[in-house]
Amino acid sequence: MQKKKEMNPFHYGSIVRGNSFFNRQKEREHIVATLSGGNNVVLYAPRRFGKTSLIFSAIEQLEAQGFCCIYFDFMPVFSLESFVRLYSKALSIKQTNLQKFVQIFTSAVKSIRPVLSFDENGSPEFSIDFAGSTVNESVVSQLLDIPEKLAGANHRVLVFFDEFQEVEKLDSINFEGLLRSKVQQQRQTNYLFLGSKTHIMKELFNSKKRAFYNAALPMSISYLPENETIEYLRKGFSDSSIVLDNETALYIISVTSMIPHYIQQLASEIWQYMVNSCDVVTKEIVDECSMRLLAHKSDYYMELFDRQSQSRKQLLQALTKSGKNIFSASYIRTYNLPSAATLQRAAQGLVKDGIVDKINGEYFISDPFFKLFIKCT
Ligand SMILES: Nc1ncnc2c1ncn2[C@@H]1O[C@H](COP(=O)(O)OP(=O)(O)OP(=O)(O)O)[C@@H](O)[C@H]1O
Ligand SMILES: [Mg+2]
Repeated sequence: MQKKKEMNPFHYGSIVRGNSFFNRQKEREHIVATLSGGNNVVLYAPRRFGKTSLIFSAIEQLEAQGFCCIYFDFMPVFSLESFVRLYSKALSIKQTNLQKFVQIFTSAVKSIRPVLSFDENGSPEFSIDFAGSTVNESVVSQLLDIPEKLAGANHRVLVFFDEFQEVEKLDSINFEGLLRSKVQQQRQTNYLFLGSKTHIMKELFNSKKRAFYNAALPMSISYLPENETIEYLRKGFSDSSIVLDNETALYIISVTSMIPHYIQQLASEIWQYMVNSCDVVTKEIVDECSMRLLAHKSDYYMELFDRQSQSRKQLLQALTKSGKNIFSASYIRTYNLPSAATLQRAAQGLVKDGIVDKINGEYFISDPFFKLFIKCT
């Protein structure tokens, strides 16, 4: 066998592009059309469904159409200062003329000094120096004006805010209200908001009490279609002369609860397991590899499960069987669960903690290997 030197065709844990990214054409077209048509978008989907990868693929298309696209991840933001530092950097990254950017920055943000330096490759790099000045609402407001200034009269700028639920960390000033007013005022700039905590994102955009109520057109992404996923898996294996039949491909999809990240993770583990030894993927091999992945995290899963209240544990056990109509009398009876009110609290808590997610009205355990762990205990 000479497969040793091949690269694993399956990828997970970061943004996927090129051949590792499939389907989602309709969603991408919808995003591109809505943003280029001058509207804002909020994208909902449970964790690890491929939101960020989809956004990067839309950005590629929008840049090819001449839009200036700014991607910003709220996850590392922990204070107003860190927001100002990281957002300034994100605004500068796609600028081809950094001198001009520095001019725009200086005219917009009065109290912060822009610094142009050179990285180890000799490329110019933008950063800022707070020079002892404090970051307050007015500095943030000036910074939030920059996309519109970059746009000028003839260009359009698109800003992509990822992990937007983290905006709640900036409540020392009225950040939400401030950003909302900029989003409303700016004529040449549009925004796309996405986040991995769907319940907080929905609260931010659907609650009448919140600044972002109705600020963007809602859009969601669901599971990747089964037939294309099967095709993708079979091709990945067959390129390494490994046979995967339809039924076993479906089995991989079902073990991973159809969640794109975990499909690729399990496929990657199977490929690694087989590449120098076997030629046909069997259900036994799928089970063996699932158990290997589970084993890597079994201490964590044990601790996580132990930490849950009795009602949460009961609900998690029921969710390994079904997540439909979980507050109905028949569900409660079938799985011998506590009252609907207690169950509501347990479900809300599990969703809030990111252990359980919901799609199309159905609840599911976010990590299929945790689900497998619960099934096995
Ligand atoms: N269209 C796709 N084609 C192939 N694999 C995909 C696709 N979308 C997602 N994946 C798989 O899912 C993984 C997670 O994708 P991504 O980080 O884009 O999801 P996300 O929804 O932004 O996740 P998070 O909730 O953690 O932010 C990728 O690394 C890849 O393995
Ligand atoms: Mg993401």
